[in-house]
Amino acid sequence: MIVLPYTSLTTASLSTEIVGATIRIFDEIDSTNTFALEQGTDGMVIVADHQTSGRGRLGRSWHSAPGLGIWFTIALDGVLEGITFAAALAVRDALADRCSPTIKWPNDVLINGKKVCGILTEHRAGITALGIGLNVHHRREDFPEELREKAGSLETEAGSGWQRVAVLRDILNHLDQKVILLRNGGFESVRAEWAEACGMIGRVIRCDEATGTVSAIDELGALILETDQGEHRLLSGDITFLD
Ligand code: BTN
Repeated sequence: MIVLPYTSLTTASLSTEIVGATIRIFDEIDSTNTFALEQGTDGMVIVADHQTSGRGRLGRSWHSAPGLGIWFTIALDGVLEGITFAAALAVRDALADRCSPTIKWPNDVLINGKKVCGILTEHRAGITALGIGLNVHHRREDFPEELREKAGSLETEAGSGWQRVAVLRDILNHLDQKVILLRNGGFESVRAEWAEACGMIGRVIRCDEATGTVSAIDELGALILETDQGEHRLLSGDITFLD
């Protein structure tokens, strides 16, 4: 008998208006983002126990082994500015009762400095795929060797007793509030909350070839970096803190 962790996830079990309007649950899928881009409708949640071709940012793959994490995507109509900021805040807020998550620019969620969650937003033909990967039951040895220094899971960083379906429900409920806010013109309040949560102002960082001090986060979420060569604008990338 196959027992899927998400059988109790239904629209009626959520406190949402938009997110979770329809729900698709898979034992295995290539990528929940691909499904959303090809077949998503507004508010659809696609969740899988296992992704065979999970995608990460910057063209990377995303380790999505069965039984270990929450691999899911929310499909939304059109392009909703600020949705990636909203997702990072929703994940942080959903976990905050049990631990102290932080947001690392641009949209990773960390606990104790270890990345537990990544977010990948993609668009195609009028649909947004907001993909979220959250490591839950991993032990250190469950991660590929090259990830072990930087990655963590809810269990490695915040103890046992996490139930994937309950965590997912909490995230979806928080995210729905933010989607409603964004659709009602609340971009600036979401952006400001996210920028504050990133805590970047004054930090000394390196990103690819650029090293400098962050002086601001602009209206699109880009970092403004003061470097020896002058001002540098970073819209995405992998940053390392030097201070
Ligand atoms: C990152 O690189 O930090 C972003 C990772 C995003 C992974 C999630 S898992 C669910 C969804 N489906 C995918 O193929 N990717 C995203």
